[in-house]
Amino acid sequence: MTARAWTWTYEGYDPEDERLREALCTLGNGRFATRGAAPETPRGPAHYPGTYAAGVYDRLTSTVAGRAVENEDLVNLPDWLPLRYRIRPDDAPAPGPWLSPDHPQLTDHRRTLDLRRGTLTRWSSYEDAQGRRLTVTERRLVHMSEPDLAVQRAVFTAEGWSGQVEVAAGLDGDIRNRGVARYRDLADAHLTDWETGGEGDGVFWLRCRTLTSGISVALAARTHVAPRGGTARTRVADRRVWRLHTVPVRPGAPATVDKTVALHTSQDLARTAPVPGALAAIRRAPAVPRLLASHHRAWQHLWHRVRWDVPGEAGRILRLHVFHVLQTLSPHTARLDVGVPARGLHGEAYRGHVFWDELFVLPFLNLHFPKVSRALLSYRHRRLPAARRAALEAGRAGAMYPWQSGSDGREETQLLHLNPRSGRWLPDHSHLQHHVGSAIAYNVWQFWQATGDTGFLHTKGAEMLLEIARFWASSADWDPGLGRYRIRGVVGPDEYHDGYPGADRPGLDDNAYTNVTAAWVLSRALELCRTLPEARRRPLFERLELSHDERQHWDDLAHRLYVPHHRGVISQFAGYERLAELDWAGYRARYGDIRRLDRILEAEGDTVNRYQASKQADVLMLGYLFSPTELAALFEQLGYRLDDETWRATVDHYLERTSHGSTLSAVVHAWVLARVRRDDAWGYCAEALTGDIADVQGGTTAEGIHLGAMAGTLDFVQRGMTGLETRARALWLDPAPLPQLSKFGVRIRYRRHRDIDLRIRTHRVGITVPESEQAAIRVRLRGRPYTVAPGTTRHFELPDD
Ligand code: BGC
Repeated sequence: MTARAWTWTYEGYDPEDERLREALCTLGNGRFATRGAAPETPRGPAHYPGTYAAGVYDRLTSTVAGRAVENEDLVNLPDWLPLRYRIRPDDAPAPGPWLSPDHPQLTDHRRTLDLRRGTLTRWSSYEDAQGRRLTVTERRLVHMSEPDLAVQRAVFTAEGWSGQVEVAAGLDGDIRNRGVARYRDLADAHLTDWETGGEGDGVFWLRCRTLTSGISVALAARTHVAPRGGTARTRVADRRVWRLHTVPVRPGAPATVDKTVALHTSQDLARTAPVPGALAAIRRAPAVPRLLASHHRAWQHLWHRVRWDVPGEAGRILRLHVFHVLQTLSPHTARLDVGVPARGLHGEAYRGHVFWDELFVLPFLNLHFPKVSRALLSYRHRRLPAARRAALEAGRAGAMYPWQSGSDGREETQLLHLNPRSGRWLPDHSHLQHHVGSAIAYNVWQFWQATGDTGFLHTKGAEMLLEIARFWASSADWDPGLGRYRIRGVVGPDEYHDGYPGADRPGLDDNAYTNVTAAWVLSRALELCRTLPEARRRPLFERLELSHDERQHWDDLAHRLYVPHHRGVISQFAGYERLAELDWAGYRARYGDIRRLDRILEAEGDTVNRYQASKQADVLMLGYLFSPTELAALFEQLGYRLDDETWRATVDHYLERTSHGSTLSAVVHAWVLARVRRDDAWGYCAEALTGDIADVQGGTTAEGIHLGAMAGTLDFVQRGMTGLETRARALWLDPAPLPQLSKFGVRIRYRRHRDIDLRIRTHRVGITVPESEQAAIRVRLRGRPYTVAPGTTRHFELPDD
């Protein structure tokens, strides 16, 4: 593999592109992450430094459109990056200007993300009017095995002059959440009570706390300069602290400034107060070369577990996606009480909230880092009481999980959202996406299938699954006319439709995705009730007061929920066929990019609710979650026939009527089409792959990566193209490699087997199971049973489709 396969390089400095690059050059370790911002300059139009610690939220009230609205945000913490410099040549009367990429003296700029080693390196060259050159190489890392630590090393090389470089290494607490232009009218000052200080040994520190959640945050830093011989002093201000160095340089004798930072918060487990904690951590931190080495080793171990052998550009992008997923959700996450933030720890879009996106992330983690999956599911379990309260308040039973979740599990979806096109604040009904509960139940089940962790399934998993089933049962009403149960007043994954045109209440009836997944949840809940060991079943039933009659009712529902159809296709919801057809060609011609059709129509005084137009896969999500056989069986259970023809017609129908206003949409369409219309699948796959690197959604990646879509592309290769399923105690494979990606390998962990290598070719599958004490793996290849014993490799020829 070439070096390029492991690096991501941006040549030149482009202020227009800078925020996107910052997001994509973010470094993190699952506990905290820092955007790849320039350390030479504070926040400005082109620059947005951001440091976010998983789970550190704060809630503020703002007034918008005359209403008081409360929002909880992932807090942008004090910035540890500041590292400013200017030259003071021996023959100059005064120091030169402070330099930065925005300064006209910049002659060259390049940055490289090294995925294998987990570092970001920035090269900047400057030249003044007298021809004096300074080259600065700044390398940084957020430590993968010392999750409190981050490091910066700057190397200064002088050409054509001798003298000193003045360096100011700082910690900046004067930070607000200003990363998303759409939120500019909202309260953004989450930090308060700053304190700063410098210690006799040169260590300097800053502490503050979040305004309403009261989380104390402390940063302590240490610098080391070589060669010695310059001066050093600490300058303390109210919200900032600096360590100022003068460093001697001359041509051929570069100078190095190392800055090591420790970040502690009052949320950390097994910790003393943040300031003494951070000071102690920084004092015992090893020197930078040793920190670099241990960081590289930690990444080496991660890459060993997620071996990814996909050739070409696709492979390079997928590696970048692995990198960002693991920087957001790493083995350290297993010790935290956090969920899957939709936009990573890479920016402030969606306020760091947790949506249903874990549906796209957990399948990847299950097969590599099951402990992380378990922790993410435990985040949901800790918030089961909040979900129960929400159900109760809505007049339902069981658990109603929030569409957007943050610190304590209450519904965090905003009440109003801004349409930047029209400037209007509009009511937001997306909290009616109760299907998030089914996603959680699905994840519980998938986790068990992939890991065999019955300990979790029979305890926390069962509680969540049964309470979510109960919520669906209490949400469904019997319609005697239809002879079916109906779930009304919901919003499906396609968020465009949030009500019927002209209706006085929000929500839609009989969303097919919601109903089919609800039937699946009810069936799995019943299956679990039957298979739970007696010692678990009785106390659980008693605690949940789950009666035989209630289970009987679930069974009835699981067979008689309504799934609307029209003209030979599954309807997205009841009455969908009565909506108008949109003039897609006309809108494309007029607006070009119509991904956010909802905003375009609203700005025109119209509403997307009037049209057969979806933001993203809704009905087609069913083809993402369930294999064709499973889906057909589910429909049969509900008393409907889903044959190939109906499914193909359904795929075609929605394909023509979807604007892909979410990055998740391309992932799902690639997945579904890989089985139905392979020739068209690659286009969606390519769109999903380039979603963030090319910022396909027009400016959104700068506000944070799309973690679900990134993980979704990994899962598309890992499960979508291999047809891998983990059910009935076997590894099912049904490869459908696309011609554009016909040769690849992935390494997975399945139940107690580590490092299973799958190699897929157009007509061949190779499986290697490493030596272990475990029993042979049961494999079902296109339905045929085989076993692969530990310590062996088997190759199978694939018959043509
Ligand atoms: C999508 C949702 C998704 C959310 C967070 C929205 O644009 O429509 O499905 O959960 O983004 O990623």
